[in-house]
Amino acid sequence: MATYHEPVLCREALSFLLTDKDGVYVDGTLGSGGHAESICEQLSPRGRLIGFDADGDAIAEAGKRLQRFGERVTIVEANFRLLRERLAGAKIAGLLLDLGVSSHQLDDGTRGFSFRSDDRLDMRMDRRAQFSAWDVVNTYPEEQLAKILWEYGEERLSRRIARSVVRARPVDTTGSLASIVERCVGGRFLTKSLARVFQALRIEVNSELGSLREVLAAVPDVLQPGGRCVVISYHSLEDRIVKDFFRAEAAERIPSGNALVPDTPRVPRLTVLTKKPVVAGKEEYERNPRARSAKLRAAARPAL
Ligand SMILES: C[S@@+](CC[C@H](N)C(=O)[O-])C[C@H]1O[C@@H](n2cnc3c(N)ncnc32)[C@H](O)[C@@H]1O
Repeated sequence: MATYHEPVLCREALSFLLTDKDGVYVDGTLGSGGHAESICEQLSPRGRLIGFDADGDAIAEAGKRLQRFGERVTIVEANFRLLRERLAGAKIAGLLLDLGVSSHQLDDGTRGFSFRSDDRLDMRMDRRAQFSAWDVVNTYPEEQLAKILWEYGEERLSRRIARSVVRARPVDTTGSLASIVERCVGGRFLTKSLARVFQALRIEVNSELGSLREVLAAVPDVLQPGGRCVVISYHSLEDRIVKDFFRAEAAERIPSGNALVPDTPRVPRLTVLTKKPVVAGKEEYERNPRARSAKLRAAARPAL
């Protein structure tokens, strides 16, 4: 049976996120609705939650879990990159993003996210999408495949693995891919390499970094004054994107890049609330291994 995903850094996320119990909040990554349920429990009867997820299974799961909140919850089956468009000018009190895959997706033997089961190479969060891990593995030029494994997976043997994949085509299943990686890596580092290769493919298939950049770009416009944005990430590239974005939006001047020309003063659109990322305590990550790599960052739109 698939496991429920225990919400990571839940208490910390809510303490940054919730400033207005009557407000409208967006959970951009509903998953099985763990964070969303905790948000709803803390809102007043006037408060509202809008939950996005690109995955129809997550939508169904979260829908059941949040049913008891009735019309206070609205569920949207869409990529969070569409946040601005879907809000159509409405302002929100807070946005939560808990990035990446859920345990539910990893454990579901039909989704191809995990190297621990033998499924068709898929990894689409949105099963309406045409493009899957099969396409990446079987159609990308060797150089491009190696680049993805290196950049998104930080896999040292990216070139060797890419070369072996290209030679073995067609590679149809997660099991075949795992065997190829095993032949290239072997031994002690195998599990880590498998995790890195699968993570890299998943990021590529779902354009995860592009979606993150797009939704962040909308944050200063969709938040009401004093509203908050909280992002939990599990990958150093995601964390860097969030950190750099918050920092740039909080800057009081735009650097000219030229010693002869003064910087341009600007009104910051966000204030950074977490100088360093918040990480899980020992007790949490011992109970929930997913929390081990989690980093939480928060920012606020300045109050008027
Ligand atoms: C880590 S889980 C969220 C778990 C959730 N916070 C909970 O407590 O159950 C991430 C979820 O975000 C979804 N997701 C990831 N990227 C997305 C995107 N760009 N747009 C919409 N949903 C996305 C995944 O489908 C997955 O269900």
